[in-house]
Amino acid sequence: MCGIVGYIGKKQAKDYLLDGLESMEYRGYDSTGIAVLDKKSINLAKVVGRVEHLRKAERENPSKGHAGIGHTRWATHGGVTKNNSHPHHDQNKEFYVIHNGIIENYQEIKAYLTKQGVKFYGDTDTEVIPNLISELYKEHGDVQKAFKAALKSLRGAYAIVMITSHDPGNIYAAKFSSPLAIGVAEDGMYIGSDAMPILPHTKQVVFLEDNEGAVVSCNSYELFHIKTDKSIKRPTELLEIEHEAAEKGDYPDFMIKEIHEVPQTIRATMLGRLRADEGIVKLGGLEEVRDQLDYIDRIVVLACGTSYYAGLVGEYLLEEISNIPVEVQQASEFRYRQEPLSRSTAVLVVSQSGETADTIAALKKIEGSGILTLGIVNAPGSTLARMTDAGVYCHAGPEKAVASTKAFVAQVTVFLLIALHLSKNYRNFDKLIAELDSLPQKIEEVFAQEEKIRKLAEKYSTANDFLYIGRRYAYPLALEGALKLKEISYIHAEGFAGGEMKHGPLALIDKNFPTFAFALSNDLDEKLVSNMQEIHARDGKIVVVVDEGKSEAAKLSEDTIVIPKVSEQLQPLIGVVPAFLFAYYAAKRLGRDIDKPRNLAKSVTVE
Ligand code: M6R
Repeated sequence: MCGIVGYIGKKQAKDYLLDGLESMEYRGYDSTGIAVLDKKSINLAKVVGRVEHLRKAERENPSKGHAGIGHTRWATHGGVTKNNSHPHHDQNKEFYVIHNGIIENYQEIKAYLTKQGVKFYGDTDTEVIPNLISELYKEHGDVQKAFKAALKSLRGAYAIVMITSHDPGNIYAAKFSSPLAIGVAEDGMYIGSDAMPILPHTKQVVFLEDNEGAVVSCNSYELFHIKTDKSIKRPTELLEIEHEAAEKGDYPDFMIKEIHEVPQTIRATMLGRLRADEGIVKLGGLEEVRDQLDYIDRIVVLACGTSYYAGLVGEYLLEEISNIPVEVQQASEFRYRQEPLSRSTAVLVVSQSGETADTIAALKKIEGSGILTLGIVNAPGSTLARMTDAGVYCHAGPEKAVASTKAFVAQVTVFLLIALHLSKNYRNFDKLIAELDSLPQKIEEVFAQEEKIRKLAEKYSTANDFLYIGRRYAYPLALEGALKLKEISYIHAEGFAGGEMKHGPLALIDKNFPTFAFALSNDLDEKLVSNMQEIHARDGKIVVVVDEGKSEAAKLSEDTIVIPKVSEQLQPLIGVVPAFLFAYYAAKRLGRDIDKPRNLAKSVTVE
């Protein structure tokens, strides 16, 4: 979703702005723009479309100046138009603002400004901000005072950065609920809505907290509290993150590259943690809270989308291996529930980006309650990683495709490691550890069938609907498989637990409504086969994923994908790969924009 960059320093601002926007492209956006301040004039360039179009516009008419702001917009208020894209300016073109989030009381402010004679050119909530600052500037005659006064009137979520011709030596920033960071370097100050754009320039970063604003010059920054105006002293922190540039290489899309990275992702996630030779799982990130963990008798997992499905696998794993009761909730629901939590409950958030607005809000809800908060997060230094008491990073590396693949696998791997780490007398401990060690090799064998899966996906790409079924560990796989297909191919797909078929979904089945079934070995084999029989008896076509040596399910199916056999607890890690490939190739056949599917964003930073 929307991305923010800002710069003030010795270099030409536009270079950082364009590179920074490009590094955040994966978050998803529909339009982009920059505003660059040169002495007292501001050059604005905006396009509907990609950063490459903005680069082209900049080559033709370059912006010059040492201070500037840039934005990638994912439309919320107002259509996808050049007018609605950021930066936005006041009617006199003196104050230019970029904004992530939603100003909830913008209608109220707009009505007030309209009464003052302000004319608006677009439909966004953001446009009220520069106009409000401009009005307040008339009253105060001072940019800082006007900026601070305007912030006090805003309600909602925001990360804001502003430049103005009235104060060319400073950039102004503020945040509530949406992340914002300032990178401090020799050659200037680099602002970003996440660390990605900043990291190639500096690792010395200060993160703004909620209700904080900043006045940033070439070589210093001053923080203040929005409500009290009090100045805040906070030194920079050193981000211990290596800048990892992700390139497509020889792959046509990030998604297929990231699917192929699954085996190496599992290796990276386990590195130094799974000590197969010593028979232990060591998780440094949980060391500090080890004593507290001993008293935990319930874990509530909060997440959205694919991370939520990883949480559902985690629920099975933690309950079976560590014997701890687990409840998984969608963060978007939890944030509005009146649910009592006892102090012996731990809350565990799961997120690839670490910036998902609903998950952040859910975690905020329990802030200050004394409840232990843990994280399974991929993006280092992200908001959720910083907010939790302790956690385990996924180490999946940057994931660029909107559809999450390798991050799901890394999240499930972390759940498995945590479950083993917390287990006391789990009977299959040694067996699982040994098997986990050799799992990446087995997953590599699945890619030997990629061509077969591609043909199958193409064959079924004409379907309008798809059902995904599985039982126990394969049930979350059915949900995840269906999500993947719908989000990138736009084929309607739903996931169900096999046992639920008779309770409703079976009514849908006919020869035009195919099913993707996970029939992987476990002690419910016969039950899933019965569910498949019911589908088969109604002329429903089935594509089945089975493991070696299973034949009953294959007999009922039109098409079969065979994968190596592993223990049931590891099945989600290997079984999901054919589902990822199936969704990818169906979408490819349909000519979809796979890495940036319509209406979706990688990082969902607004509610
Ligand atoms: O960054 P997060 O893991 O918190 O994101 C949660 C969901 O928005 C995300 O998993 C989404 O469902 C993916 N596009 C699924 O592929």
